[in-house]
Amino acid sequence: MVDVDPVTREEALALCEELNRHNHRYYVLDNPTIPDAEYDRLMQRLQRIESQYPSLKTADSPTQRVGGEPLASFKPVAHEVPMLSLDNAFSDDELLDFNRRVTEWLKLSGSLEYACEPKLDGVAVSLLYRDGVLIRGATRGDGAAGEDITENVRTINSIPLKLQTNSPPHLLEVRGEIYLPRAGFEKLNTEARTLGEKLFVNPRNAAAGSLRQLDSKITASRSLEMAAYSLGRIEGLVQPETHSETLELLRRWGFLINPHVEVTADIDGCLSYYRKMVDIRDQLPCDIDGIVYKVNNLYLQQRLGFVARAPRWAIARKFPAQEEITLLKEVEFQVGRTGAVTPVARLEPVFVGGVTVSNATLHNQDEVARLGIKVGDTVIVRRAGDVIPQIVSVVLEKRPVNARDIVFPDHCPICHSPVERVEGEVVTRCSGGLICSAQRKEAIKHYASRKAMDIEGLGDKLVEQLVDQELVHSVEDLYRLQIEQLEGLERMGKKSAQNLLASLDTSKETTFPHFLYALGIREVGEATARSLAQHFGSLALLCSSTREDLLEVTDVGPIVAHFIHEFFQQTDNLDVIKRLKEAGVHWPDIMPQDRQLLPLSGQTWVLTGAMDTMGRAEAKERLQQLGAKVAGSVSAKTSCVVFGADAGSKLKKAKKLGVSVLNEAEFLAMLTANGLL
Ligand code: IVH
Repeated sequence: MVDVDPVTREEALALCEELNRHNHRYYVLDNPTIPDAEYDRLMQRLQRIESQYPSLKTADSPTQRVGGEPLASFKPVAHEVPMLSLDNAFSDDELLDFNRRVTEWLKLSGSLEYACEPKLDGVAVSLLYRDGVLIRGATRGDGAAGEDITENVRTINSIPLKLQTNSPPHLLEVRGEIYLPRAGFEKLNTEARTLGEKLFVNPRNAAAGSLRQLDSKITASRSLEMAAYSLGRIEGLVQPETHSETLELLRRWGFLINPHVEVTADIDGCLSYYRKMVDIRDQLPCDIDGIVYKVNNLYLQQRLGFVARAPRWAIARKFPAQEEITLLKEVEFQVGRTGAVTPVARLEPVFVGGVTVSNATLHNQDEVARLGIKVGDTVIVRRAGDVIPQIVSVVLEKRPVNARDIVFPDHCPICHSPVERVEGEVVTRCSGGLICSAQRKEAIKHYASRKAMDIEGLGDKLVEQLVDQELVHSVEDLYRLQIEQLEGLERMGKKSAQNLLASLDTSKETTFPHFLYALGIREVGEATARSLAQHFGSLALLCSSTREDLLEVTDVGPIVAHFIHEFFQQTDNLDVIKRLKEAGVHWPDIMPQDRQLLPLSGQTWVLTGAMDTMGRAEAKERLQQLGAKVAGSVSAKTSCVVFGADAGSKLKKAKKLGVSVLNEAEFLAMLTANGLL
């Protein structure tokens, strides 16, 4: 027997204790305090020690069991066929090792076919169908017993209540993952934020929380989905020969099967599948935390069998984590275009979701209070999809004694004017207005941006120099810039100075909606600017409109109407507009007869999936140019759905509702026919 040194013994004990604690938090309390990646690392470390010193493998070691105990509040359900977990591979080499182990076990000389599936980040579920009818839904729990959540799973639209077949098996247990797509997660948290409620840290927690509701009406209000990925108990079914055929069968019977499931001829195919999925991960509608590879042949699966925790025939290849742990080093305050003072977290740089993150917004005072965060804290940072990095929680147990409260300034950090917090608003604002150089800089950056006046070559750094050196005070000064002034600036040669002057000149010829948006009126984004322009047709009419007139405009409510009205009441603003026009900024008015005549006026379109030749932003703008409203979800009122690759539930829904659909080629042809391409 190998002698164990006391230091290693201590470490193993500590790891056991720590992992069990996190396990309990994760599985029972549904409130993890460390990211999965950190958990995986601790688990790997313990596994390594235990394989080196088998005598350290205790009965309560987390490596020996699958999860935690079920909660008391739901009826327990025993799983006749245990719901197992998966072993992890963290690199190409570990995946190749897996393939080697499998091939050797099976004594195969040739290559082996694998089913490759996204590893959906949600909650595993078991659904039992007797004679084709759903009779029970259960969570995985600790793998041996879970909780009865039948009433809740019944509310999930993608779960068939009855199998779509005339000859269902006598008994069928379907397993899969219940998850909350990112859009549903963002919506849920936006609502919670407005109501001042606790936020969910990630879509998986939100899915778990939504399922663990005693009131199934609450579950029904969350847009949960389920994708099926395997079978448990079966009676009266002749199983197909492969896993992929089983999924096909389930798809036919009415289950949602993830659209990215693929079969590869060998392990090399698995490696390229991984790379492909890493590339499109951010664009997927839901979080995935890796890839699951399964030996496709079910007879071979049976021969391979199981070890304690997991099957020998499958492995999960983990993605770079979307949540990581890091240190909050400092909080600084930034001032935006409308004077909003935003706390920005300066972090110990950390690699998360595929990029190195060193800053994250803390939004506002309410968010800081909600997180209960202090400078010096260890925090969990999440970056998923194209959403900006967020701090989702604080690891309180790691708070140092000298952690510091985050104190909001009572004066603007830039111009030192007093800050104010309006009743009922979450934002703290600098009262300096155009005295404040930070606000002026942001206003100019906004004016120059692509969706506004589109001044090519006038980037953020340049705007900062122009304001700092007092060459530009307000947007109209841009048009008075001289070549000599520009040449003196950092990183600005003669050629780029000339180019900038030329693009300033070109930008003078604009459109009414672009100009309106460029003015930076509070709450007036691109879409509102477009509606206003369409509605009033000319600046003169808009300027003289009353609040009541403004309320008639599509998408304009009382708050937005107030901001617009107030903007045009202020003589300073009117002076700026006058001077811009004097400098040569111009646009054609929109004639009344043109306003209603746009080919897609009154229609609502939806974009889904990725197109090869056009980005989402451009497609949206084109549709809006034709008068359509672009919405995020499909309903019976939708006029048309444009779909690209990987289109999923929205396309399905459109087809179900009989809404017309266009593929990429048809969409491009429609744009060409309308003179937009
Ligand atoms: S197969 C015995 N396939 O990952 C095989 N699991 O770590 C067990 N998961 O509890 C599951 N997507 O919640 C399988 N396509 C997929 C999956 C998947 C997500 C989850 C599942 C399971 C966990 C295992």
